[in-house]
Amino acid sequence: VNHFNLSFLGFGNVGRALARWLQEKRATLRDQYDLEWRITGVTSRRLGWLVNSDGFDVGRLLTGNFDSPATAPGFHEWLAASRANVMFETSSLDPQTGQPALDYIRAALKAGVNVVTANKGPVVHGYRELRELAANYGKHFRFEATVMGGAPIFSLFRETLPAANLISFRGLLNSTSNLIITEMEEGRTFDEAVKKAQDIGLAETDPSNDIDGWDASVKLAALATALMESPTTPQQVDRAGIRGLDAEQVRRARADGHPFKSVCRLERIEGRVVASVRLEQIPLTDPLASIRGASSSARFVLDTLPDGLTLISHNPGPATTAYDMLADFINIAKSD
Ligand SMILES: NC(=O)c1ccc[n+]([C@@H]2O[C@H](COP(=O)([O-])OP(=O)(O)OC[C@H]3O[C@@H](n4cnc5c(N)ncnc54)[C@H](OP(=O)(O)O)[C@@H]3O)[C@@H](O)[C@H]2O)c1
Repeated sequence: VNHFNLSFLGFGNVGRALARWLQEKRATLRDQYDLEWRITGVTSRRLGWLVNSDGFDVGRLLTGNFDSPATAPGFHEWLAASRANVMFETSSLDPQTGQPALDYIRAALKAGVNVVTANKGPVVHGYRELRELAANYGKHFRFEATVMGGAPIFSLFRETLPAANLISFRGLLNSTSNLIITEMEEGRTFDEAVKKAQDIGLAETDPSNDIDGWDASVKLAALATALMESPTTPQQVDRAGIRGLDAEQVRRARADGHPFKSVCRLERIEGRVVASVRLEQIPLTDPLASIRGASSSARFVLDTLPDGLTLISHNPGPATTAYDMLADFINIAKSD
């Protein structure tokens, strides 16, 4: 049996949902994958650096009981004291720098700890370095949860599409924008639609990252960086959000058969990868027109499949993202 000590850096919506999956799948992990685990470290700015070398009681963690036998003075001591084999990184996104997550992940890999993250920041700002560090230290850096919850994109390319070249990408990557447009088509105002996205836990209190196209830009940058060998920052994406969209105009566009969509693209133009997020009116015959609500969609054009391969994730939520992290963990354990 393989025993893993797990540390959680961040314990919000996704971190908690991951702890729930681990608990729910405990028997499956043991019986099918010979895998036993315990959570020995939990941290967030509010919680401090909590350590329990015998393993926290997951039920108690999930009800907000964070009593811990020990605390550490800082990151390095915390990681060492929790004797982590895998660190799950779910701290908040900083689209501009990827910090402080980038520094934490770098340090964890150097300390010989596998890292699974849901945070796009470190991927767009440190992909090459983190991948090389992981290889040099014989560890894994996995980030399936960062783009399109529920759709295995990075593992799909890594495991099942060897030597295929990604030529271009087109899709809907920001669930909040798509939900807002759908809600406006169904009669809500822009502000009511934003409120609905917040009420179901999709949009943050400050929804600007979604509405102004930053979230989609970071995801495009992650795809270009990891799948097209073209390091791209969110700032390099040609970006237009959906702010100021008029509800009446949105309804008329749908009725006239040319609905609005926030369309994400990656294209190779004269040897360069060009990324864009654009508010567009598309014909009803376009498959993207039928992607409604919080669902997202990705169409990959490959040299091996020029007409494209499409994935749709129907209404993913934080639990879907957390499952992607669980899958990364199992795949790491299988390959160790
Ligand atoms: N929610 C989703 O469906 C989804 C989907 C895909 C990707 N993601 C990504 O997953 C990550 C987590 O999302 P979430 O929805 O779980 O967010 P969340 O509920 O706000 O949780 C974030 C957690 O990270 C902690 N944290 C924030 N900054 C930190 C720092 N500098 N050092 C240590 N801990 C820190 C927060 O606690 P304190 O405030 O106490 O520090 C909190 O526990 C984000 O990067 C997000 O972009 C989320």
